[in-house]
Amino acid sequence: MTTSKISLTSLEIQPASLLDLGSVHQIEQVCFGQDSWPLPDLIAVLTLPNVVRLKAVIDGRIVGFVAGDQRGKTDIGWIATLAVLPAYQRQGIGRALLNACEEKLRSPRIRLCVRTDNLIAIHLYHQEGYRTIDLWPNYYKDGASALVLEKIRP
Ligand SMILES: CC(C)(COP(=O)(O)OP(=O)(O)OC[C@H]1O[C@@H](n2cnc3c(N)ncnc32)[C@H](O)[C@@H]1OP(=O)(O)O)[C@@H](O)C(=O)NCCC(=O)NCCS
Repeated sequence: MTTSKISLTSLEIQPASLLDLGSVHQIEQVCFGQDSWPLPDLIAVLTLPNVVRLKAVIDGRIVGFVAGDQRGKTDIGWIATLAVLPAYQRQGIGRALLNACEEKLRSPRIRLCVRTDNLIAIHLYHQEGYRTIDLWPNYYKDGASALVLEKIRP
């Protein structure tokens, strides 16, 4: 695995499919540990209709993943997951995936949940215009709480 700075000119954001299950599963496990989604949830997110699922590809390798969906009949889109392999982080890939998913969701409001102790992700979301609208106590397996963040798009 490379740790050197990669060239973002080789970054491609592409639709993901069930064929990417293995790579997405690995990314989820590495990035989320005990909070990672079980396989059935990943299969669902890679197959259900009306889900935006995008992968970040560098030199043919899947290094990041984002998924989002429109819930019910609301005008609110939710970013369900966003992750980049550690060796590829801090190079703009997470932001690129987030922005691409927001574009595809086309919702005026976009929401997401993030652990209160995930300061790196919270920093990214604040930079991208998300603001805290709620706190869900005990949301994660270890009892950590989730911040609910919302972005209102112009
Ligand atoms: C959150 C995550 C997706 C960001 O991906 P990334 O590719 O590193 O993000 P980017 O390179 O686009 O960085 C965008 C911003 O994220 C924040 N950020 C990223 N790494 C950071 C770090 N080590 N320290 C502080 N802020 C950091 C910064 O705000 C950064 O902007 P800047 O470089 O202009 O300061 C990635 O860290 C990750 O996969 N984490 C594990 C999974 C996770 O927590 N997902 C979010 C769940 S809600």
